[in-house]
This record gives sequence, C-alpha cells and structure tokens, in this order.
Amino acid sequence: MFCRELNRGKCKTYIVACERTRRALLIDPLKENTGRYIAVAAYHGLRLDYLFDTHTHADHRSGTFDLADLTDAKVVMERHAPAPHVAMHVTQGDLLELGDLRVKVLYTPGHTPDGISLYIDGAVFTGDTLLIGGTGRADFPGGDAGAQYDGIMSALFTLPDDTKVFPAHDYRGNQVSTIRQEKTSNPRVAGRTRTQYVDIMKNLGLPLPDKIQESLQANQSAIDDDSLKFPDLTQLSAIRQVTATDLNQRIKSGNPPVILDVREPEEYRDELGHLPGSRLIPLRTLSSRAAELDDLKASDVVVVCRAGIRSTTAGAILTALGFEHVGNLRGGMLEWNEAGLPVER
Ligand SMILES: [Fe+2]
Repeated sequence: MFCRELNRGKCKTYIVACERTRRALLIDPLKENTGRYIAVAAYHGLRLDYLFDTHTHADHRSGTFDLADLTDAKVVMERHAPAPHVAMHVTQGDLLELGDLRVKVLYTPGHTPDGISLYIDGAVFTGDTLLIGGTGRADFPGGDAGAQYDGIMSALFTLPDDTKVFPAHDYRGNQVSTIRQEKTSNPRVAGRTRTQYVDIMKNLGLPLPDKIQESLQANQSAIDDDSLKFPDLTQLSAIRQVTATDLNQRIKSGNPPVILDVREPEEYRDELGHLPGSRLIPLRTLSSRAAELDDLKASDVVVVCRAGIRSTTAGAILTALGFEHVGNLRGGMLEWNEAGLPVER
C-alpha cells in the first residue's frame, strides 16, 4: 500500500493507493491544496478513484467538490452527510475495492453524525473521531460524546492492536500511532467509562473554530460564492430540535407549522421525498431569498433537510434574521422516512 500525508500541517490529507494497479483515493482533501493533490498523484502515476471526507468539516473548506470536477473521482461520504453532491453514500461495514486493496467503512459518529473511519490494509484513518492522544470535540450541533465513545470502543478498539492510526488532525507534530498505543495511553479514553468520557467532553470549554461559518456553509451546501454573507452561527446550538413523531403530531393537530425544506431541488424529489405542503428554498439561496418569508417572522417554522444538519444551519440563519419560532426536524428526511411517516415525491 502506498500512503502519504500531503499537507504537512495540523490538518491532514492522505493519499492511499494500490501499488500494482495505481488506483488511489484521497482522504479529507483541503480546497486550497487541490492543485497539489493532482500534481502528487500525477507525479507518482496514480489515478484517483475516490475522494473521501471522513465527516462534514467545520474548520476548513473541503477540496472534494473541486477535485470531483477536475478528475473522474467520486465523492464518498457517510449516509447522513448533508452535502448535496455526494456521488456515493456509505455506511458501517461497506467495502470498496481499490485495485488489490479493500477499503472497509467503519461508522464512527459523535464528533459529527456523519463520521466514518476507513480501515485499509493494517491502517485506520480515523478522521476527527480518534486523534493521537485525544479525540475530536463533540460539542458542535449533532455532536454526541456518548456515541463517539461507543464508536471508538466497538469499531476502532476492536481492530488488531498493531493497526496504524492516522487521524485527520494533530496539533503536536505526531504523524502516526497504533490502536495499542491509543487503547493504553490516550488520556481521553484509556481506562475511562462512557460516563467519564461524556463528562470530560462536556467540560472542554473550547472556542468555536475560526472558519466555522464559511466552512460549514460551503461544506453543507456546495456554496462557492464568497460574496454571500451569512449571519452569526454561534447560535447553532440554540435551535429547537423537533422529532419526526412530534412534527407529525403537530401537522395533524390542525395548527401545523410552516415547513421549510432547504435541500436542493433534485433531493426534494428523490427517493426520500418531501413533507406534504413543505416549501423549498435551498440553503445556498436562503440568505438572498429570505425576504420571501418575511410575513412568517412571527409564525412557527420548522426547517427540514436530509439529515438535520443543513437545516440547523438554516435555522440559525433565520433566527439571526429575526424569525422568532424556528425549529429543526431532528434527523431530517432520513428519520422521517425511517419512522414511516407520509411523504410526497
Ligand atoms: Fe472535524
């Protein structure tokens, strides 16, 4: 297996390839380094098949969209990923072929709801789930420290002890670790119970990352227009979360909320369908079209998307624009469908 880290910084991007067939994949490419990745692949005679994001990043713009435009490679993310242009959604246990290599997908949510790790030939790429001597924060919207602990224990710490660990970030100059090393000496998880871990994560008190606004917006909705100005997203965690069953009750109650779907038009009509009577305004156009909703500022509004992530962002935008009663459909159309509730297509 050919494997290199390509950024030489705190944010890590890996290229992994089958040495015989020269088929390659990228893990967590940065938008600003797109040219470098294509150059490195060309220099080593590698052909890019897959572009993985291990999760929706909040600290940098993803390079997958540009790279998919410039090459024949496919963007691959976990099934809860909000980005609309993902070519292939994967989930726990999926296997992809990369020449002679097998890429096994491990579902490791908690840092975000769409977190995956990739196990390839004795190495595991852990995204921001498991870091060297640390773990990724679990306090963004959709984060869940308990789920993160469960994923680390059941999907990662059950791998062979000598599995190499390659994280998406490192702030101390580390390059690689092993499952054994993390099991025995990672201060967040070694010897910790689930309750202790949740407690540690609750009390980290980290500031929001510098680029969270521009990164989340762009990575969730493929916006590529820097002139769009979004309101302050520090409100994200204040958005009221509504379950599918509760929303369905309220729709049937005779006093239904306004339902605003913020996905792309093709998603609105795809296999997940949409809620009967919902209005469609894609997230990327929400700022410029918010005036269309002006008469709803005092109404009950529930925002909907695929997995409940883009809609949380949209909810924060609307709240900042003066909408007083904004809720978010938790789990989005995925949970709505799983609950067997009515959809139109
Ligand atoms: Fe992250």
